[in-house]
Amino acid sequence: MSNKIDVAIVGVSGYTGLELIKILINHPNFNITYVSNSEGGVSLKDIHPMLEGVIDMQVQKADANDIAKVASLVFLALPHKTSMGFAKQLIAKDLKVVDLSADYRLELDLYEKHYCPHEDKENLPLSVYGLPEFYKEDIKKASLVANPGCYPTASLLALLPFVKYLNANQSIFIDAKSGISGAGKKLSDLTSFVTVSENMFAYNPLKHRHTPEIIEKIELLENKSLKINFVPQLIPVTRGMLVSVYLTVNENIDAVQVLKDYYKDEEFIRIVSNPVNIKNTSGTNFCDIFVAQDGNDLFINASIDNLLRGASSQAVVNANLMSGLEENTGISKIAYAP
Ligand SMILES: NC(=O)c1ccc[n+]([C@@H]2O[C@H](COP(=O)([O-])OP(=O)(O)OC[C@H]3O[C@@H](n4cnc5c(N)ncnc54)[C@H](OP(=O)(O)O)[C@@H]3O)[C@@H](O)[C@H]2O)c1
Repeated sequence: MSNKIDVAIVGVSGYTGLELIKILINHPNFNITYVSNSEGGVSLKDIHPMLEGVIDMQVQKADANDIAKVASLVFLALPHKTSMGFAKQLIAKDLKVVDLSADYRLELDLYEKHYCPHEDKENLPLSVYGLPEFYKEDIKKASLVANPGCYPTASLLALLPFVKYLNANQSIFIDAKSGISGAGKKLSDLTSFVTVSENMFAYNPLKHRHTPEIIEKIELLENKSLKINFVPQLIPVTRGMLVSVYLTVNENIDAVQVLKDYYKDEEFIRIVSNPVNIKNTSGTNFCDIFVAQDGNDLFINASIDNLLRGASSQAVVNANLMSGLEENTGISKIAYAP
């Protein structure tokens, strides 16, 4: 009999669902027992032909009762709103849940202001924000982890070490660039080949709904309000995220040393000595961070793989911690570069 932990993926036909499969296939302690999408009735290799000869399973129409029979931990790789419908039922059946959507990331009023009415107010206060560098001990005890958004992951990891050197209510600019897979597999004019190929553009500047997530976590972790001016942009690559933060600190610091001290115990943060690029983190759970300094003016530059550190590998790190495993179990450090 296997002593592995049985896990389910709901939303396996999406981009983050596929990345979860790729990580979990090689995971020494997790065993995939259930995969599902909205309709079911197909095989995994029909949805993801690159898995031919690697793994095959029947894809089910997602159903919480069926999941509870075969798994004890569930990854929800679903759109927001859909996710909380499943999480609510799964938590009631004592399953552990890692939710990749936004449904459990924000406090109630902020969530309802930026997304939709919340349908699981009971479990919302029990969720733990799954940014392991900051919430590790809470994640270990959690039954419900809200995996952070991709932009907030990179932005918070870049910015948080410097918050104590900023004035309250200071204006900060975050310029963030994402590969197209960040938008999920659903087709739209904004993400069509013709729109994005050899092109770059900002969308929802200063209005993107990841902004409140960044602001709320800074307030909770550092007890300081900042005015975050967040500008997301699409770039013509499949995966990868590059975040640039421009700020002025209020005292004379050695910015590189601040970063090194802050993250000295964190194996998935690399403080690098040249501006970051997205190929070096693509395929990994690393967040690379670089800082340049001219007096008190800083340029902080971070890169992650939006599908991995921004979603699926961070989700597995969280599942590892929730299961009493080492956080790095089954997590790749080898980049896809070149
Ligand atoms: N893409 C990223 O870089 C990224 C990063 C961080 C967080 N996230 C978040 O992670 C979640 C998943 O993102 P994604 O990019 O993987 O999305 P996606 O490519 O659009 O995939 C969504 C998945 O959800 C499934 N689904 C939708 N409604 C369903 C239902 N009622 N029952 C069962 N399955 C249902 C879809 O199945 P069908 O094929 O049947 O429609 C599909 O498998 C989202 O909340 C997203 O915001 C994404």
